[in-house]
Amino acid sequence: GQHILGLEHMSVADIERVLNTADEMKKVTKQDIKKLSTLRGKAIVNVFFENSTRTRSSFELAGKYLGADVINIAASTSSVAKGESLRDTLLTVQAMGVDAIVMRHSAEGAAQYATRYVKAVVINAGDGAHEHPTQGLLDLLTIRQHHGAIAGKKVAIVGDILHSRVARSNIWGLLKMGAEVHLGGPKTLIPKEMLDMGVAIHHRVEDAIADADVVNVLRIQLERQKKGLFPTPREYARIFGINDERLKLAKENVLVMHPGPMNRGLEISPDVAYGRFSAIEEQVNNGVAVRMAVLSLTLADGVQA
Ligand code: CP
Repeated sequence: GQHILGLEHMSVADIERVLNTADEMKKVTKQDIKKLSTLRGKAIVNVFFENSTRTRSSFELAGKYLGADVINIAASTSSVAKGESLRDTLLTVQAMGVDAIVMRHSAEGAAQYATRYVKAVVINAGDGAHEHPTQGLLDLLTIRQHHGAIAGKKVAIVGDILHSRVARSNIWGLLKMGAEVHLGGPKTLIPKEMLDMGVAIHHRVEDAIADADVVNVLRIQLERQKKGLFPTPREYARIFGINDERLKLAKENVLVMHPGPMNRGLEISPDVAYGRFSAIEEQVNNGVAVRMAVLSLTLADGVQA
């Protein structure tokens, strides 16, 4: 097996293999009976040190649809709450004989760290502000399905980019696949060092979304703002929020994405979130297919990851 730690070091061929496999998996999840036997006899554990709705449950469903046994450990209800270390938690899980560990942690590099201690396949489900590779892959899949291609598309990523692992995985993945990436938001939420990644940075959100094929709106991570949000939430919504009026600047067939959870009325208005350009629920649906693809490619016997 091969670990899935991030998109920065994933090859274009590997990304395409995941997307193509996810297309196949999507056909399976549309059927009434979803159960496959691809991963029968395999055990997967979701170890989540941070909260999750989408990622944790879609990994669980993905594993179950493929016939694996899946268990969940949430830090808040585990012995982590008694002070057990990350390393000891990993060694304990490993001793149970699991084949894959899907892990979310607040520290950058946590998934990489895990690979030093366990033989199981490690899949990063989010490490601090570093990477969230399966989110990046499901976003690529959503763009490819809607626009038919990723290369040459203008993708605007707007919102709290500073704290966002979703932004970083999207940027690496999109640039590799040949998209043009424009970041939009206040100076306080876009580190200028990100220019070195090969993106354009705009502090007028209108400039970021002008003629965009895709507008990916990211959550303002209020819980991670060290000195409160600047501009204030009310100002942010007025100056940078994506609403119907602003969206008219983008292409006519623009795709609006948001990884969730949303602060509705802050970074995205309800008319856009539930409007005709929104792919938010499609992203969630694609999340199951992408996680099935990643699990089968890394875990199935005889399948090359
Ligand atoms: N998009 C995403 O990672 O959502 P959750 O935090 O609910 O998993």
